[in-house]
Amino acid sequence: MEAPASTVYLKDYRPPSFLIPEVVLDIDLQSEDEALVQATLAVRRNPEGAASGTLVLDLDEVAVEAVAIDGEPLVPARWQADARHLTIRDVPESFRLATRSRIHPRRNTKLMGIYTSSTGFFSLCEAEGFRRITPFLDRPDVMARYTVTLHADEERYPVLLANGNLEAQGAEGGGRHWARWVDPFPKPSYLFAVVAARLDREQDSFRTRSGRSVLLQFFVEPGKLDQGRFALDALKQAMKWDEERYGLEVDLDEYNVVAVGDFNAGAMENKGLNIFNTKLVLARADISTDGDFNFIDRTVAHEYFHNWTGNRVTCRDWFQLALKEGLTVFREQQYAGDRYSRAVARIQAVRNLRTGQFPEDAGPMAHPVRPAAYQQVSNFYTATVYQKGAELVRMMHTLVGPENFRKGIALYFRLHDGHAVTTDALVEAIEQASGADLGQFRLWYEQAGTPRLAVRDRYDEATHTYELTVTQSCPPTPGQPTKQALHIPLAVGLLGPNGREFALRVEGEKNGRGTSTVLSLRGETEVFRFLDVPARPVPSLARNFSAPVLVDYPYDEDALQLLLGYDSDPFNRWEAGQRLAMDLLLVGVADFRAGRPVQFPDYLAQAFGRVLADAEQDPAFAAEALSLPPEVVVAEQLQEIDPLAVHRVRFAMRTFLAERLHDAFQGAYERYETPGAYSPDAVSAGRRALRNLSLAFLMDLGAPTTRQRAVRQLETATNMTDALAALSALANCDCPERRVALDAFYAKWQDEPLVVDKWLATEALSRLPGTVERVRDLTLHPAFTLQNPNKVYALLGSFGVNQVNFHAADGSGYRLMTEQALLLDAVNPQVASRMVRNFERYGRFEPVRRDLMRAALEQIAAKPGLSRETAEVVGKALA
Ligand code: PHE
Ligand code: ZN
Repeated sequence: MEAPASTVYLKDYRPPSFLIPEVVLDIDLQSEDEALVQATLAVRRNPEGAASGTLVLDLDEVAVEAVAIDGEPLVPARWQADARHLTIRDVPESFRLATRSRIHPRRNTKLMGIYTSSTGFFSLCEAEGFRRITPFLDRPDVMARYTVTLHADEERYPVLLANGNLEAQGAEGGGRHWARWVDPFPKPSYLFAVVAARLDREQDSFRTRSGRSVLLQFFVEPGKLDQGRFALDALKQAMKWDEERYGLEVDLDEYNVVAVGDFNAGAMENKGLNIFNTKLVLARADISTDGDFNFIDRTVAHEYFHNWTGNRVTCRDWFQLALKEGLTVFREQQYAGDRYSRAVARIQAVRNLRTGQFPEDAGPMAHPVRPAAYQQVSNFYTATVYQKGAELVRMMHTLVGPENFRKGIALYFRLHDGHAVTTDALVEAIEQASGADLGQFRLWYEQAGTPRLAVRDRYDEATHTYELTVTQSCPPTPGQPTKQALHIPLAVGLLGPNGREFALRVEGEKNGRGTSTVLSLRGETEVFRFLDVPARPVPSLARNFSAPVLVDYPYDEDALQLLLGYDSDPFNRWEAGQRLAMDLLLVGVADFRAGRPVQFPDYLAQAFGRVLADAEQDPAFAAEALSLPPEVVVAEQLQEIDPLAVHRVRFAMRTFLAERLHDAFQGAYERYETPGAYSPDAVSAGRRALRNLSLAFLMDLGAPTTRQRAVRQLETATNMTDALAALSALANCDCPERRVALDAFYAKWQDEPLVVDKWLATEALSRLPGTVERVRDLTLHPAFTLQNPNKVYALLGSFGVNQVNFHAADGSGYRLMTEQALLLDAVNPQVASRMVRNFERYGRFEPVRRDLMRAALEQIAAKPGLSRETAEVVGKALA
């Protein structure tokens, strides 16, 4: 058993006692099994830190062989290495510390530090991986200039890369070569990266607006260059966008991107040497979906944007993770909004928030955007930090306006460039530049939980006054039994009976506000009075999802249909459709559980029928509007989750709509066929989305002719979007075509790992009986391995969100996940703890599943030698 995890608290933050302004590293990759790492660190006392004569460096699975100070080898009595630290006594004020250590890249199945993948050596250091390469003060407020020399076999590893600029390279004895890289920018250790591998290279350049030319290089597995072009073009777009939107220019002469198939996360923003999971960089129409293209574009942009928001200005400590992630996700969302449909981008972001973040915020791992405590920082790369963190930045943008926001960001860079700061630094800069008071707003960073707004209204016919009363509340979360009122921007409009919007005049304000206004909610209850409102309006609340809250207002179906048809805010048009369906789904679930028949009204079919009839204007939007609320989002609304009931009722609604709108769906399927060559642009992707959504609805009716259509689409598709849509539809259909299609798909794509992942996910997501056994079999399939995170996410990650089969009432899905998670924990604890999080919300489920899930957690908790990562999750879940 590892030593019990201890908790780290934000309130205990102290500046480091020592600083390390300079690092010279020599990494000799002698074999896959062993590397020799020699580090020379310039160390000096930090005048801002506590005085100490003892230097304690972090380390993890590094064997230290020798230590010297200013060239003098230290006798063993002066230094001591245990499993986590290298402690050196009686050190001077300022000195050069040399260490020599060994690491074992091939044994590094955690994929943190330096590890091997099929074509060579790769690294990942965020958050605490650098200590797995060499002893160091591995914390982001210790920033150093790095000079790195790599040595490796020349034939097997022809490409040698590190951060910064290539300074020199050459051959050495025994068929080996070396390269020296110098990074001129001081950086925290988590941004360190090295690569030594056999890779193909695609080269391009970018001319900055100040006229500098930057070398861009993409490195991919041999033979995959044709899959790198899309991402390379995306990088250039992102560079241009950041110049235009924020006035930010790339600061390097050389910008390298490397793709690797074994990677714990999506991608990593290492200074000048981004390392990407292959699935977020490689793209080609026949193997990547529209969703992949979109995600790759945004991720390439995201990692590039980090160069300023994260790298130039970095985090003081890991409690501040949202400083870089919230702001960078927000910038990525702005970029996507500019390049794709703004409305669709917003809808997708909010759907993500509701499926991932809202449940987290209502569970045992709930934490503020700036957490106050953690055991393992790797468990805090969460939807809350990323997605809710972005919503916080967006709210500030809404509150101060785009001009002031931009000024605030400019001031943020002026004040903090080159420094490691806290989330307050960002809020303060926006506050100073705009003159706004964000004092109360800061609470958003400290309080966990999803706030709920109860909105009630009153219309006075005599005075033509309309009154909105808004009351905010926020449920208790771990460690935070009571909450303070938050400062919430609530964007609203008022629709008249014919759908026209009223001009707004808010009492107490001089000027009219057009037809949309942002109300600032500060107190627990606030009353807003609108004057000169000619008739009782329907309120359009929280337009464009102006705050990450739940809005509760007693809409009736007529009001929702009015909003769905006429709201000038496209997000709220979509939202009205979601509410319409959600209200009926909740009634349906109650009926189902009480043994009553589940029925749906005509107006639902009529409302969705109108969306379908108007689809031509914006097929992408129509596809979003016709997508029913996801099962997890429905489940979240229930007192007690019964996943099977949710699934059955939602499926019943799908078949109801498919029957009623059969001809319209069929028409859409035929009309929106992709003409000509494939292009991943937003308009073409939107047409495919609507067509494939129509196919999925029709397939739920199970007619043989529809099945044949799906088979034909699968066989003739020239792009993966259409092929995978057909395959998924067949995978959910209990028909003879199903197994044939799945087997043929694997046979065709078995040599393309990223497509095999799609196949594994499609199998694991099937709602049909037998899926648990199938997933169990697939864990033994040659295509599957626990060593590769992509395979784990594809099979087990997908299975974990399968509401029917993971949650099978006999517990078989839970047993499978438990067994696999325990095996995985010994291989890659960061990925294992993510799988275990599938159990954390057991308390929300109906009694049978609640007990089974709890037993699974207890079984995991009892495992000797459980990793700290997984132990934190099970500990909090069972607390
Ligand atoms: N910092 C990365 C990003 O958000 C994510 C990441 C975290 C990657 C930890 C690797 C390890 O862009
Ligand atoms: Zn990021």
